[in-house]
Amino acid sequence: MKNMMFIAATSLLAQTAFAHTQFSGSELTPIYADLSQLKKASVPVLFADEKSQMGYTVATSDMLNRLSASAHHDGRCGNFEALTKIPSDITEVKKDFQAVQKQQEKNLSYERMFRNLNTTVDAKIADAVSELNSNNIKETVTWLSSYQSRYNRGTNPNQHVQDFYNKLKAQTANLPYITVDMVAHVKTPQKSVRVSIKGSERPNEIIVLGGHLDSISGWGFGNAKAPGADDNASGSSSLYEAFRVLITKGQPQRTVEFMWYAGEESGLLGSAEIAESYKTERKAVVAVLQLDMTMFPGNGAGKIASMTDFTSPWLRDYLNSINSAYIHAEILEDQCGYGCSDHASWFRRGYPALMPTEARFNSMFQSIHTERDVITPESSFEHALIFSKIALIMAMDLGNSTLREPRF
Ligand code: BES
Ligand code: ZN
Repeated sequence: MKNMMFIAATSLLAQTAFAHTQFSGSELTPIYADLSQLKKASVPVLFADEKSQMGYTVATSDMLNRLSASAHHDGRCGNFEALTKIPSDITEVKKDFQAVQKQQEKNLSYERMFRNLNTTVDAKIADAVSELNSNNIKETVTWLSSYQSRYNRGTNPNQHVQDFYNKLKAQTANLPYITVDMVAHVKTPQKSVRVSIKGSERPNEIIVLGGHLDSISGWGFGNAKAPGADDNASGSSSLYEAFRVLITKGQPQRTVEFMWYAGEESGLLGSAEIAESYKTERKAVVAVLQLDMTMFPGNGAGKIASMTDFTSPWLRDYLNSINSAYIHAEILEDQCGYGCSDHASWFRRGYPALMPTEARFNSMFQSIHTERDVITPESSFEHALIFSKIALIMAMDLGNSTLREPRF
């Protein structure tokens, strides 16, 4: 309480109403964003959490544009997380910040008490890993990045979604324990694609393996060319290659769900709604993997990064442990500094999350969100294959074990 600047609920409502009046006709989006970015973009803050240096506000499209412009100026991207709905009361916002704080405190206790999981090699998993093929990733990235745009506000936001859904449906037609569906959302007409592989022993325990399928150009212009090859055809394709091999290996004991999210680039829209509904339904999600940007080896071949914010030390330990057993990559640690991808949607709702990515934040591919985000001579599908291995091993190892985040 002491470290939070509190704006009374009445004042929040008054300001929201004011925003309605002043910006009539413009869309209002409740968001969380960096306090410094909000200040720089002259966006009024309705609630400030000093500890995380994040703020809450209800932004008009003008404000969002200013925020994106100032973030871009600082070499960052969009930089805000959209909420699924405008909170009725400021206490809801407070609770959200407290939930992330609680997660971070849980992380600290874990770091003090545990370390070093030890994975032993299982021949079946090692065999499956050897079946993964980087040429398939290249093929899928080529295909996905050939759409004019996969932008959630583009003129045809579901073309690639429908095509991808059809592909997945055809591939799993003979497997009765697999369901494929397109998840409709409230905040965007774009749909997410989800494949659920039902667990044979513990179907209620879910492993989520995800990545965003949408792309964006600039700060989001209608149907501007947005190939999004690295961001995030690459992560989507790394996942899809893991999926291809996994479905030839029978049913895991736990349920494994693949998710290709909608509208990440417009504020984690698809994942926020899915994570929210899983929380409401009290679904037991054991682990969430997010793959976002996998094909640019910015720190060198065989070197990847593991993000330490909005993720769980248990899963970061787990990644180190499967890496030592099966993958042998070099894992560097870094932070996004904000909820930079869909893992944040899950983490802030209490679920354990992991986000390995192509390189440290400052060494990432520099042309994301432009029409130059295409396959280049530096793109490495061997690099992207590391992430298919992570996803496949999580599905086959964690998916067949009782391992979970220790409770405190
Ligand atoms: N792929 C990026 C996230 C990213 C960027 C991860 C650089 C690691 C390094 C993602 O698609 C993205 O653009 N996220 C937005 C935030 C989101 C909440 C709109 C961003 O980074 O601004
Ligand atoms: Zn992006």
